[in-house]
Amino acid sequence: MNTPELIETAKAMVGCDKGLLAMDESNPTCNKRFASLGIPQTAEARRAWRELIVTTPGLGESISGAILYDETIRQQKKDGTPFVKVISDAGIILGIKVDMGAKDMAGHPGERVTEGLDGLRDRLKEYFQMGARFAKWRAVITVGDGIPSRGCIEANAHALARYAALCQEAGLVPIVEPEVLMDGDHTLERCGEVTEEVLRMVFSQLYAQRVTLEGMILKPNMVLPGMSCPVQAAVDQVADATVACLLRAVPAAVPGVAFLSGGQAPELASARLNAMNVRFKSGLPWALAFSFARAIEQPALETWQGKEANVLLAQQVLNHRARCDRAARRGEYNAAMDIEVV
Ligand code: G3H
Repeated sequence: MNTPELIETAKAMVGCDKGLLAMDESNPTCNKRFASLGIPQTAEARRAWRELIVTTPGLGESISGAILYDETIRQQKKDGTPFVKVISDAGIILGIKVDMGAKDMAGHPGERVTEGLDGLRDRLKEYFQMGARFAKWRAVITVGDGIPSRGCIEANAHALARYAALCQEAGLVPIVEPEVLMDGDHTLERCGEVTEEVLRMVFSQLYAQRVTLEGMILKPNMVLPGMSCPVQAAVDQVADATVACLLRAVPAAVPGVAFLSGGQAPELASARLNAMNVRFKSGLPWALAFSFARAIEQPALETWQGKEANVLLAQQVLNHRARCDRAARRGEYNAAMDIEVV
């Protein structure tokens, strides 16, 4: 384990006011998004979509790191150039999703635990050799009647910590992603309570597994009311609740917090991140950044629709969202940016 290098990588991932692009949908998830737009669910369509993303001009101005999926890290552009080379030529750090997905948890109806620890040490070694310098593991926590249970929170936190320790051993910065889902009708306050409990457990497990906090990135949800909660929150309320929760539970040694978007509308995700940085940036120990998938990709995917003729326009749409999120990191995003025609 090369601790100084891990720390440098983690700093670079959240430095320069840039953020991360999570282009790491598993094949089933990517296919589901394609199906909803009538795009063929084939390896070639997935390759073409990822080629569109990695060749977007100027992407490296807003994106410091890109998280790939196992299929994608092995793919090439149509002209044979490996994606890995295209990404590093753009000055973007290469990352890789390494969990094997969230599976139903035995004895815990309605809850899931993320799998993927078996054989992980060897997989990480291979990814490092391929050029990856960071990794991602996502745990999902569902809020509902009587859940999440202590057992589910503990099992997911333990797996995240063991994954993080293995990553650091292999020279990869772990992105630790415990996602409290937006599904449901729970309130903002309930999301805050659950998120705080989950984060406290995650950091206790990270400590027990001897993970170097300076060499990791936390990827949490924002504190939000459930999607079907009748009372939705104002942008500033979300910013306040999220930062209050993080201040209670996230040690100052962590260099960066890079939020997932979790199904928020892209403009809202930008506005909420912006509000946090406007209101709190100067007093926080960690950077507040983004690691969005849908909130950056979805508008571009809808523009592309699987058609070669739409590639350039889709790239402009993708770049626009990434720029909005970079502006949000600086506290310089405003809704007018989204009215500008790209
Ligand atoms: O694991 C989930 C992704 O890394 C973030 O995706 O921004 O669409 O929630 P999202």
